[in-house]
Amino acid sequence: MDSRHPATITAQALGWIDESTQALVPPVYLTTTFIRDPDNQYRTGNSYGRPTNPTFVLPEALLARLEGGAACLTFGSGMAAATAVFLALRPGDHVIVPQVMYWGLRKWLQSFATEWGLAVEFVDASVTDALAAAVRPGYTKLVWIETPANPTWAITDIAAVAEIAHRAGARLATDSTVATPVLTRPIELGADIVMHSATKYLNGHSDVIAGALVAARHDEFWERIVAIRASNGAILGPFEAWLLLRGMRTLHLRVERCCRAAQVIAEHFVGHNHVTASLYPGLPTIQATLSRRAR
Ligand SMILES: Cc1ncc(COP(=O)(O)O)c(C=O)c1O
Repeated sequence: MDSRHPATITAQALGWIDESTQALVPPVYLTTTFIRDPDNQYRTGNSYGRPTNPTFVLPEALLARLEGGAACLTFGSGMAAATAVFLALRPGDHVIVPQVMYWGLRKWLQSFATEWGLAVEFVDASVTDALAAAVRPGYTKLVWIETPANPTWAITDIAAVAEIAHRAGARLATDSTVATPVLTRPIELGADIVMHSATKYLNGHSDVIAGALVAARHDEFWERIVAIRASNGAILGPFEAWLLLRGMRTLHLRVERCCRAAQVIAEHFVGHNHVTASLYPGLPTIQATLSRRAR
């Protein structure tokens, strides 16, 4: 059992040290291809730069650890990560998605996903009963939530929705970009897949577009996602993977400071003459609404 605080594990990138040089910081593997073993095998697991690259290993292992997941894949963007989950479904499958969500994914679901044959249903995911009423056992294959949701910071009850989804034989995937594993660990609450736009808090320096998925377990659905990344090629560049790990080392410090700053800003605008509403989960008014909805 590792007793180190997650912030320490993150700052030390799992404590990785290069065995041959004792370097603390991993290299960037710019290679696109790898030499086979003398008997024609690829025992390192590396064959070509599209399915994988050794530079992905540490950021993926670190994020899997922080989320308490079994596996992680990085992608060339948050959108590439999110869409890989929907593409792992089959035409005709019913999916439930929130009305309030990142606009780019909502647009993709309304256009490409629908044209491709997914039955996409938008519900108010902050009202658990509304979501429960929309789920159809045997037909619904995926419930997708985003919490807190961009741009209103609406909250969804992950544990309640996981139970609803699983009872109906569906999987639960959650966009946890805003929460980060510092604030919420959706897998512990029952989620099957956690998605991040790593472009945001995980990287934290506004110099990388990246995405990631974390799976609660290795299963056939996850294998489909692995195959989609390998064949569609929506991978992170090696330098971006390296920058992502560099950025993640300060994740806990940054998230803590972001929360404090956001709280001050949200409180400042409560009752402000020029502001209709201040929406932030840390405000007592919002918390009262959330507990009313949970009852
Ligand atoms: C909550 C959320 N999910 C997904 C995305 C898409 O991520 P990316 O821009 O890395 O493709 C964004 C981008 O703003 C986002 O805010």
